[in-house]
Amino acid sequence: MSLKLETERLNLQPFNKEDASRMKELANNQELATILGLPHPYELEHAEEWIAIQPEQIQKGLEYPLTIVTKKENKIIGTITIRIDKNNNKGELGYWMGREYWGNGFATEAVNKMIEFGFNQLNLNKVWASAISRNKASTIVLEKADLQKEGTLKQNKLLHGEYEDVDIYGILKEEYNR
Ligand SMILES: CC(C)(COP(=O)(O)OP(=O)(O)OC[C@H]1O[C@@H](n2cnc3c(N)ncnc32)[C@H](O)[C@@H]1OP(=O)(O)O)[C@@H](O)C(=O)NCCC(=O)NCCS
Repeated sequence: MSLKLETERLNLQPFNKEDASRMKELANNQELATILGLPHPYELEHAEEWIAIQPEQIQKGLEYPLTIVTKKENKIIGTITIRIDKNNNKGELGYWMGREYWGNGFATEAVNKMIEFGFNQLNLNKVWASAISRNKASTIVLEKADLQKEGTLKQNKLLHGEYEDVDIYGILKEEYNR
């Protein structure tokens, strides 16, 4: 199975140790930290620790964390992953982009590719994602990638002292192939 995925404008590929400083640069943003619940300030060691566990996760088929790299500038602009629930043969998407790259359709492009990877290469039955209900950018990405809203979990996440509603989105293999 090749883990280098390609779209029109992007390469999605596994992390290298050397990517830690770029991830720190991208993740060290207050707005992003607030939405994702990341530590802020985001330190180099946070990125290093995260990258260090990835080869084992990939090798065990538990999760496929990938960098999102622009072909044009060969620059990392974000990250996307699919976390596998083997018992139920489904995968959960997670993704974020550096603040300066929002609004260019990059997340939608990456999400579409990861869904294809999940169904065609991992042979999953379902791909799903959750997003804080008021995070319109994320729910729109999921809708553009043809995931359907399955419901809202009320006050499901405590984020910076506020209980947030969470929307659940999903797509089944049979729907994808239709
Ligand atoms: C969510 C996120 C990944 C989207 O990345 P992106 O590359 O900007 O996404 P896209 O450009 O593919 O699509 C975003 C869409 O949301 C729309 N949008 C953005 N903010 C919006 C808002 N406040 N209200 C309504 N629509 C909004 C954009 O216009 C775009 O839709 P369009 O293509 O129809 O114009 C990015 O905003 C991000 O990293 N956010 C912080 C982390 C996060 O939320 N991760 C997801 C956790 S579930």
